[in-house]
Amino acid sequence: MARIPLLVGNWKMNGTYGACVQLAQLTVDKLERPWAHTSQIVMCPPFTALRGVSNVIAFEHSFAQVGAQDVYWEESGAYTGAISPAMLAELDCQWCIVGHSERRSLFGETDANVAKKCTALLEHGITPIVCVGESLEVYERGETQEFVKAQVLASLAGVEPGIRDIVVAYEPVWAIGSGKTPTPEHAQSVASVIRSAVASLWGDEKAQKVRVLYGGSVKPANSALFTSCPDVDGVLVGGASLNADSFVELVRKVLDA
Ligand code: PGA
Repeated sequence: MARIPLLVGNWKMNGTYGACVQLAQLTVDKLERPWAHTSQIVMCPPFTALRGVSNVIAFEHSFAQVGAQDVYWEESGAYTGAISPAMLAELDCQWCIVGHSERRSLFGETDANVAKKCTALLEHGITPIVCVGESLEVYERGETQEFVKAQVLASLAGVEPGIRDIVVAYEPVWAIGSGKTPTPEHAQSVASVIRSAVASLWGDEKAQKVRVLYGGSVKPANSALFTSCPDVDGVLVGGASLNADSFVELVRKVLDA
């Protein structure tokens, strides 16, 4: 079954409000209209720029969409510094990255937290992009598949996908921001393990619909190599999404392939 390519830019903690609005404007200007029918393209700025980016999209009548980089699962209350799904939904956020390896390693995010965030997001009509991926040690021990499978099962435990999408992004920790990438064969084998893990939770039919992304040092020169893998349905892009030319170029490489 055909899954629509999904290309997501994760801007991380980069850009003031003004800089993010400018980047969104440049990116949207370069996206080609026909891609609206063949792909979904998402920009994930810092929380402070979500409104600015969604305003650019609305003003330009662009098909691009906006996503957040994290969320907290409670509705409201005494959770200083936290942002709820309802707050994101009000800013036209249709997507939210959860469990990124930087959240896991720097901010103590656990699989159980990721699962709670997924449920809270789905209740508000926001699609979670759940990140998983092994460390260099796990990769070198040849234990990637078992590790990622366990991470998927735990990060989605108890989550009811319902009619909403869920996206899983395979991001080897050692490939993020390093310029190193796994071979497409490795990415494919892990993407297929992810799909089987999803099937064991929600059944085959749902698993065939779930999109699996690859992330980690994606750039124009390699984006289509990953998306040519049968189980890889798009990319999650960090560094290269901070430059409108390189982001749109890597999108073009995927969609023209
Ligand atoms: P990178 O980051 O493209 O800069 O490697 C990817 C990510 O962390 O999502």
